[in-house]
Amino acid sequence: MHPTFTVLAFSAVVQAASFTPEVSLLTDLPQFHIQKLQKTTVRSVLKTINDKKLKGTTFLFGSTLADPSVAPQNAAWTSARFEDTFNLAVAENNCKWFSNEPAQGVFNLTACEDLRDFAFQRGIAFRGHNTLWHNQRPDWLANNPLNFTVSQLNRTIIPNAVQSVIEGLGKNLVSWDVVNEALTDSATPGMSVTECVVNASSRWPNFAIDGNASSPVLFPDESFLNTAFLNAGRARKIIGSRLQLFYNDYNGRGGDSPSQSKTDCALKMLGQLKSSGVPVDGMGIQSHYSATPGAFPSKGSAHTTMDRLKSLGLMGAITEMDCWLPDNTTASLRWQSSIFGDILDSCLFSSNCNEFILWDPRDDESWLDTQTSTGVHMGTLFDLNGDPKLPYFEVLARLMNFAQGGVEPCSTSSGTSVCVL
Ligand SMILES: *[C@@H]1O[C@H](CO)[C@@H](O)[C@H](O)[C@H]1NC(C)=O
Ligand SMILES: *[C@@H]1O[C@H](CO)[C@@H](O)[C@H](O)[C@H]1NC(C)=O
Ligand SMILES: *[C@@H]1O[C@H](CO)[C@@H](O)[C@H](O)[C@H]1NC(C)=O
Ligand SMILES: *[C@@H]1O[C@H](CO)[C@@H](O)[C@H](O)[C@H]1NC(C)=O
Ligand SMILES: *[C@@H]1O[C@H](CO)[C@@H](O)[C@H](O)[C@H]1NC(C)=O
Ligand SMILES: *[C@@H]1O[C@H](CO)[C@@H](O)[C@H](O)[C@H]1NC(C)=O
Repeated sequence: MHPTFTVLAFSAVVQAASFTPEVSLLTDLPQFHIQKLQKTTVRSVLKTINDKKLKGTTFLFGSTLADPSVAPQNAAWTSARFEDTFNLAVAENNCKWFSNEPAQGVFNLTACEDLRDFAFQRGIAFRGHNTLWHNQRPDWLANNPLNFTVSQLNRTIIPNAVQSVIEGLGKNLVSWDVVNEALTDSATPGMSVTECVVNASSRWPNFAIDGNASSPVLFPDESFLNTAFLNAGRARKIIGSRLQLFYNDYNGRGGDSPSQSKTDCALKMLGQLKSSGVPVDGMGIQSHYSATPGAFPSKGSAHTTMDRLKSLGLMGAITEMDCWLPDNTTASLRWQSSIFGDILDSCLFSSNCNEFILWDPRDDESWLDTQTSTGVHMGTLFDLNGDPKLPYFEVLARLMNFAQGGVEPCSTSSGTSVCVL
C-alpha cells in the first residue's frame, strides 16, 4: 500500500549489522504465561484500565484500518479485531487529501466517512489522518504544481482542505494528524525551525515540485503549518469538538543519533507554534522500527521525548508502530517483542500519552512487504493468517501489568546484560 515514509529512510535500517541480544520478557513469567493470556482479550484489559481511570482519560490502543476493498478476504477478521482488540481506528489512506478533494474545491468525504462509521458502529474511537502532507496529494494539485501561487495555497487551498475535511467528519473524532512529515531528515544540531522545514528533502509546499529543490520556491518558510493548524482550530470551534490536533512525523527516535536533531527540530517547531497562539495539542511519534541495533529508541529516550513534550504542554502519541525483522528466528522475534513492549510502556507510563497505534493490523496487509525484497518482514502483531504472534502476547502482558497497577518493567530491549525481569 501507500508508504508513509520514504524507502531512503528505511534503507539505512536494512543495512545495519545484524546482532540480536538475548532478552527478558513478561511472557516468560508464570503470571503472564501465554496459555493464561490466550484466555483474555486486549479489549477486556483496556476496559479495566479505562474503568479504573488509570490514564485519566480513555487509553486508546489502535490500528490503521484499510478500505474494505484492500483485503476483502480479511473482512471478518478485521471486524472481529476492531471489537476484541482495538478501541481506536485510523484510516490508512481513505482520509488523505487525494481521497477527500478529488477535484479542486470538490470534496468527497465518503471513503473517509465509511471508515469513521465502521469505528463508530463498534463504539470505538476514530483518529483522522491526515490533512496536509507532501505525499498523496490529489492529482490536480500534485500534477499541476506550477498552477498555484503561495498566496492561493495559503489563503484558499490549504484552509479549504483542512476546514472542509475536519468540519465534514464531525465533532466526535478523538484526534487529527493535521500536518504530516514537514521536517528534514538531515537535521543538524542547532538548526532553526525555518531551516528544519525549508531545508527538508526539498518538499512541497516549500518547493513547487515535491523533491525538486530547483523548482520554484512556494513557501519560503514554515508558515503553512500555522495556516493548517489555525484552520483546523477554526473547524474544531465551528463543530464544537474537543478533538486534539497533532503534528505527526517519523525518525523522532528520541535520543538515538542521528535523529536526535530531528526530534529537537520538532520540539522547537511545536514550541514556536504554541507560543504564537496556534492551536496544536500534540505530536504523533511515528514508530517504524526495526529489530536492529540503533533502529529503535531505548525506553529511556522514548520517555525523554514524552517528557519534553509534556514540558511544552503537549501530548505525545505513539503512531504507526511496526517493527521489521532481519530474519525469522526466535531470537529476533523475542527482541521484536521487547521493542513493542518497551515502546508501549513509554506511552502507558507517561501521563501525556493516551494513544498507541499500530501501522497495519497483520503481516499480510503490512506496507513493509512492498519495501524490500530481502529479509522477512513480519512487522505487526498478527501473522499472515491473522494469528497472534509473540509480540502480541507481550503487548497484552504489558497492558495487563499496567492494569494491575504493576511497576514499569525495565528496558527489556536493551538485552539481559542490562535488564532482567
Ligand atoms: C465519492 O466517493 C465514493 C467512494 O470513493 C464513490 O463511490 C463516489 O462515486 C464518489 N462520489 C462522487 C460524486 O464522485
Ligand atoms: C494547470 O496546468 C495545466 C498544465 O500543466 C493546464 O492544462 C491546466 O489548465 C491548469 N489548470 C488551471 C486551473 O489553471
Ligand atoms: C539551508 O538552505 C539554505 C538555502 O539553500 C542554505 O544557504 C543554508 O546553508 C542551509 N542551512 C543548513 C543548516 O543546511
Ligand atoms: C526540477 O525543476 C526544474 C525547474 O522547474 C526543472 O527544470 C527540472 O527539470 C526539474 N528536475 C526534475 C528531476 O524534475
Ligand atoms: C500564510 O498564512 C499565515 C496565516 O495563516 C501567515 O502567518 C503567513 O505569513 C502566510 N505565509 C505566507 C508565505 O504568505
Ligand atoms: C517463520 O518461522 C516459522 C517457524 O519455523 C514458520 O512457521 C513461519 O511460516 C515463518 N514465517 C515466515 C514469514 O517466514
